[in-house]
Amino acid sequence: MSETKVVVAIEEERLELSVRTGSIGPDVVDIGPLYKQLKMFTYDPGFTSTASCESKITYIDGDEGVLLHRGFPIEQLAEHGDFLEVCYLLLYGELPTKAQKADFDYRVTHHTMVHEQMSRFFTGFRRDAHPMAVMCGCVGALSAFYHDSTDITDPHQRMVASLRMIAKMPTIAAMAYKYHIGQPFVYPKNDLDYASNFLRMCFAVPCEEYVVNPVLARAMDRIFILHADHEQNASTSTVRLAGSSGANPFACIAAGIACLWGPAHGGANEAALNMLAEIGTADRIPEYIAKAKDKNDPFRLMGFGHRVYKNYDPRAKIMQKTTHEVLAELGQKDDPLLEVAMELERIALTDEYFIEKKLYPNIDFYSGITLSAMGFPTEMFTVLFALARTVGWIAQWNEMIEDAEQRIGRPRQLYVGAPLRDYVPVSKR
Ligand code: CMC
Repeated sequence: MSETKVVVAIEEERLELSVRTGSIGPDVVDIGPLYKQLKMFTYDPGFTSTASCESKITYIDGDEGVLLHRGFPIEQLAEHGDFLEVCYLLLYGELPTKAQKADFDYRVTHHTMVHEQMSRFFTGFRRDAHPMAVMCGCVGALSAFYHDSTDITDPHQRMVASLRMIAKMPTIAAMAYKYHIGQPFVYPKNDLDYASNFLRMCFAVPCEEYVVNPVLARAMDRIFILHADHEQNASTSTVRLAGSSGANPFACIAAGIACLWGPAHGGANEAALNMLAEIGTADRIPEYIAKAKDKNDPFRLMGFGHRVYKNYDPRAKIMQKTTHEVLAELGQKDDPLLEVAMELERIALTDEYFIEKKLYPNIDFYSGITLSAMGFPTEMFTVLFALARTVGWIAQWNEMIEDAEQRIGRPRQLYVGAPLRDYVPVSKR
């Protein structure tokens, strides 16, 4: 079979570019020789047609609404797996055996405490600081506490850093929350599973017994699974780009957290719930749909649309089910925000504008309602996303370091600024 080539022809000059084929998904044109031979760059703001790396971790078919981790559909992982099993899968490429799972759970669980000095770090922040600001600072600061796992050339140190981050994120996230609301920090309790431990660190107080609700723990765990990885999204690409310079893993994850914070990315769950609260009642939905369609109005329906999914986000479907389970467990089946959400979804899915632009609900549309019912304030939503996404960032970062083709990431540009000109002394300007 002849090898497919893409030919770029400029007047007399012809350049044949190789096409690389993955296991599934679109082929990619290898444009590496383009600059060398034609002295040209490609232009692709927002990377809509650019594969920035080769990866074996996560696959998305946005047209079909498919999400696979290491080949396994997200629906099966969310239904039958637990979060740490998914972490193992993302990091090592295979589902763990029973013994491997027990060993992995043990190793993660026994890294949950943070250096005691870290607790003083929190007090440097204002109490009303956004917990994502605190997360950026504290996770970045981990590199100042765990010097023995910052040598990125040592696979053992890389794995220790990876486990540390997966283990300590819930502790740091819960500390950010407790600090924000003025309650004492609650230490991790290692006989609890990952999600239960996190709920306890967030909601227990020293003066009372805290019993973890298993329905909420399962919902929390599922939310973590649904957010664990999503291939080369903005924050993951940020982590890879930061890591490409050889920066230490804690600093790279802090960079990912900063990127995730934006409302077009992880911040959308907070924005979606705020939007539902602002709409308030179903009769006001048409007003907001009209705003979303108005080209002169910057308003967008938060929790709708996705760069890759041009179909229902498969995570949103699972999330919707989890939302109903949580609200039923808490006796909040008639939650007014849920009513607004369901009616908004119904209207948007039948509206010509949303159909034509393929704008479906994404995961953030339902996660906010669930987290709010569980007792989390909106400012914590993106923190929980960051907690869960840490494993994806770390798995992608490890993959990048081990990739023989890896080089420092260095995009080029189309320069449209002033051409060469001479400096004019201030007295003559
Ligand atoms: N409401 C109204 N119109 C929209 C929306 C929306 N939520 N999203 C996209 N559009 C329109 C947009 O105005 C544009 O119209 P036109 O072609 O007439 O200019 C068209 O749809 C394509 O939009 P785009 O901005 O070019 O698409 P994108 O791929 O660059 O953006 C997005 C994707 C997720 C940033 C965008 O859909 C959005 O802002 N959604 C709301 C925020 C949100 O829910 N983000 C969470 C994403 S999922 C979780 C995550 O990945 O973090």
